[in-house]
Amino acid sequence: MHVVSTSADYNALYRQWAGQRVALVPTMGALHEGHMALIRRARELADIVVVSIFVNPLQFGPQEDLMSYPRPIEQDRAICEQLGVDALFTPSVEVFYPEGLEQVTTVVPPAALTERFCGAFRPGHFTGVATVVLKLLNLLKPQVAVFGEKDAQQLMVIQKMVRDLHLPVEIIPQATVREASGLAMSSRNRYLRTEAEQQAALSLSRILNQVRAAVQNAAEPLPAQTTLQRISEDILAPWADQGVSVRLQYLEAVHKQSFAPADTLKPGVKLLIAAYVNQVRLIDNMDL
Ligand code: PAJ
Repeated sequence: MHVVSTSADYNALYRQWAGQRVALVPTMGALHEGHMALIRRARELADIVVVSIFVNPLQFGPQEDLMSYPRPIEQDRAICEQLGVDALFTPSVEVFYPEGLEQVTTVVPPAALTERFCGAFRPGHFTGVATVVLKLLNLLKPQVAVFGEKDAQQLMVIQKMVRDLHLPVEIIPQATVREASGLAMSSRNRYLRTEAEQQAALSLSRILNQVRAAVQNAAEPLPAQTTLQRISEDILAPWADQGVSVRLQYLEAVHKQSFAPADTLKPGVKLLIAAYVNQVRLIDNMDL
């Protein structure tokens, strides 16, 4: 496996791959089974698999975990090697933002896609994501790129950017990988230190599963707002006296294709959830 961190070194490799199909898996590292599923999918889709690891400062807010974000690079490298990755691209912040974060041209996704859900709580986040993904696509020139459905709003923003800017790449969504407990895998799960925090984190997938079960058992479409409120209160209330703070940031039902709010719960609707477990922010989503 080649490990490169500049565009010149990457281009030297790229020339050797002439005519072969390249798949990219962009990541911020701290690789887990979710990332590994993306890499395996990329392996099926192309001759050459490139993984990028870059903790992108442009997508972190001032109060967020940029400094403490896990960076187990040796472990990540071993995982990539084991999965038969052809090239690992690990640019430095200086290579990506040589004149600083303030001086870079950015891609601003339409407000309609970013003013709700995660975007509402993380101003500038999706501009940071879209900008770095465009830089990675231009620099690494893949024919396909694989993204996880775990980050549903991010996937939506990237698909829109690719369409709007006519980018010559196919975006492949990959289903969310979960722990046996139902917890969606995330690099941030390692911040869940205590047994109680780990248990409380299961509330997100429990709420989603319980809503889905209620929908399946109902004779007619359920009203979204009251159903989501009732089920989330049932699951979250017991934590109030367990010494773990579980705060719902949002729980909403949207139409899967447009992300427009859905009034009733039925097939074709997606549930989106974000919550803090103590200081750890977690997200999840599920299709009905
Ligand atoms: P990161 O959080 O490292 O995630 C990299 C990719 O892995 C994303 O496409 C994400 O949706 C996917 N992923 C994460 N957890 C997953 C899971 N449990 N199941 C399936 N896929 C999962 O997302 C980012 O990095 C960054 O924003 C990035 C796109 C790299 C831009 O900086």
